[in-house]
Amino acid sequence: MSYPYQIKSAAQYQDAYKKSKEDPEGFWSEVAEGFYWRKKWDKVLDWNFSEPKTEWFKGAKLNITENCIDRHLEKMGDKPAIIWEPNNPEERTRVVTYNRLHKRVCQFAQVLKNNGVKKGDRVCIYMGMVPELAYAVLGCARIGAIHSVIFGGFSAQSIADRLYDANAEFIVTCDGAYRGNKDIPLKSVIDDALIGNRTVKKVIVYTRTRTPVSMIKGRDVWWEDEMEHAEHQVEQEGKVTFPAEEMDAEDPLFILYTSGSTGKPKGVVHSCAGYMVYTAYSFVNVFQYEPGDIHFCTADIGWITGHSYILYGPLAAGATTMMFEGIPTWPDAGRFWDIIDKYKVNILYTAPTAIRSLMGFGLGHVHGHKLDSLKVLGTVGEPINQEAWNWYDENIGKGKCPIVDTWWQTETGGILISNMAGITPAKATYATLPLPGVDPMLVDENGKEIEGNNVSGNLCIRHPWPSIIRTTYGDHERCRLNYFSAYPELYFTGDGAYRDEEGNYRITGRVDDVLNVSGHRLGTAEVENAINMHAGVVESAVVGYPHDIKGQGVYAYVIFEHVHGDENLTRQDILQTVTRVIGPIAKPDKIQFVPGLPKTRSGKIMRRILRKIAEGEMENLGDTSTLLDPGVVDEIKKGKL
Ligand code: WT7
Repeated sequence: MSYPYQIKSAAQYQDAYKKSKEDPEGFWSEVAEGFYWRKKWDKVLDWNFSEPKTEWFKGAKLNITENCIDRHLEKMGDKPAIIWEPNNPEERTRVVTYNRLHKRVCQFAQVLKNNGVKKGDRVCIYMGMVPELAYAVLGCARIGAIHSVIFGGFSAQSIADRLYDANAEFIVTCDGAYRGNKDIPLKSVIDDALIGNRTVKKVIVYTRTRTPVSMIKGRDVWWEDEMEHAEHQVEQEGKVTFPAEEMDAEDPLFILYTSGSTGKPKGVVHSCAGYMVYTAYSFVNVFQYEPGDIHFCTADIGWITGHSYILYGPLAAGATTMMFEGIPTWPDAGRFWDIIDKYKVNILYTAPTAIRSLMGFGLGHVHGHKLDSLKVLGTVGEPINQEAWNWYDENIGKGKCPIVDTWWQTETGGILISNMAGITPAKATYATLPLPGVDPMLVDENGKEIEGNNVSGNLCIRHPWPSIIRTTYGDHERCRLNYFSAYPELYFTGDGAYRDEEGNYRITGRVDDVLNVSGHRLGTAEVENAINMHAGVVESAVVGYPHDIKGQGVYAYVIFEHVHGDENLTRQDILQTVTRVIGPIAKPDKIQFVPGLPKTRSGKIMRRILRKIAEGEMENLGDTSTLLDPGVVDEIKKGKL
């Protein structure tokens, strides 16, 4: 397989970019020719950002799994689609060929059908990183059910909220998951999430850790039993078939929840055709994937990175993609490097937070590894600092692997700003240039465009690209308000950026009340709500502060009625509450008890002051004269952790 849409030189990039700007519809229809359609589109694009409405490849019919699996079978049936590395390096690895993936996805699609799942139904998936998670995701796509994958670090309460929001009737989970030296009891978390739930009809449980689980009659079924039964149904005369549901280009493919600056996480909806085209296009071009290469994206499929660059993008390109069940520091901090040498990985795509954490363990864990199979390195999820970039470049890439710094978001579906490995130049700490079809701009507070170079502003996008967010599930107005209303007729990213003299973009971080902790998104309001659930908490304010490894840490200022005994125990109680309400990933790094919060006379918390103090900036707090009680600032400064 070769890619008709692969850009091979800087000049070709310039041409493609120009063409995409002058004739976006012509540009994307050419790219879309590289896919398998049951029926081609009537219109390439219909859109406006005021509703918003975005319809790509309107009228086309397809199924994404035919593109990710079936069309590769003839020539590449025996090639590995997924290589799975277990948590425990002693355990047998699994290589899933495209033929095998086809069989398992057909089987699981049949299982879903047998359990009453129909096109359009929402299926929540809460599993560890096992190949069965890929079968579950693709099985849903095969029958047109909408998957909503929830990361294993979310609590029962978070799952319950998401089940309710999506009105999900089906769950696929595991008994447990292995992560490092821990076993996480996933099914038991699901059981807690289902207390009082009246909508979920079936829970399919895959056995991974064989930890004891309760299996409720009529509701809970074992994956293995269901798959065995389905195997006979999908096999006819030695051939496996399960007809893929014919989907409209704009039918929803999945929901993925993500945090915003206000309220509960929202369900970002992506649709079939545009998401498929854009993830495959960006995958091939950013990483310069060549057939036969082994691509290792270390993200979890519970996040968008895993959806787009472990599963859909690579599989649509007929690639070999790695799935790693464990964590980078177990059994020791050389685990990534072991995996790279073991499978001769060609592309490594990971987060700056992982790089910084591994840096901290010292080069001893890197030495003794060849790492000579590596061709391309990538980073995602947060800004990468110069020091981590250099370390990655020198010690992992040995100075010979281009590093792609890929900027994008859950809402963008795929990478929007990045260099292309070896094709367009890298610049450390810069995501660099937009991909063809992406039209970024900077605006000031009033929405006025900031033109020219060496300028900073709020990052917006002018024109839709194929994998742009379609809606927030069940609440289209929320989608409009969040992304399309701050600056009329523009998509607002929530990020600030700087543009250098060559037009390279450097992402400087969120300009809204969203934190990026270890590359995971958290809303300050969401964390505050969780803290406020704790008995005794009167009020709280959460801000981010620079953290050496996580990028940002969570700093919580808490007004507490009266601390019972030991302050530290009360802190532990609050952490426990946050773990219950959101999950361990949202636990504040620092909790400072304060007598009051700096508020304006109208009652608004002045977060700017709190942010500065959390950053250790005690002077230059700006104008505090408008505060209701300026004295509270000194108290807070005194108690700074
Ligand atoms: C936010 C999106 C997209 C995959 C993982 C995160 C930040 C993302 C970069 C980068 C600087 C980055 C932005 C963005 N971000 N990539 N290369 N450089 N910042 O997805 O949870 O939707 O978060 O992550 O602030 O808005 P997400």
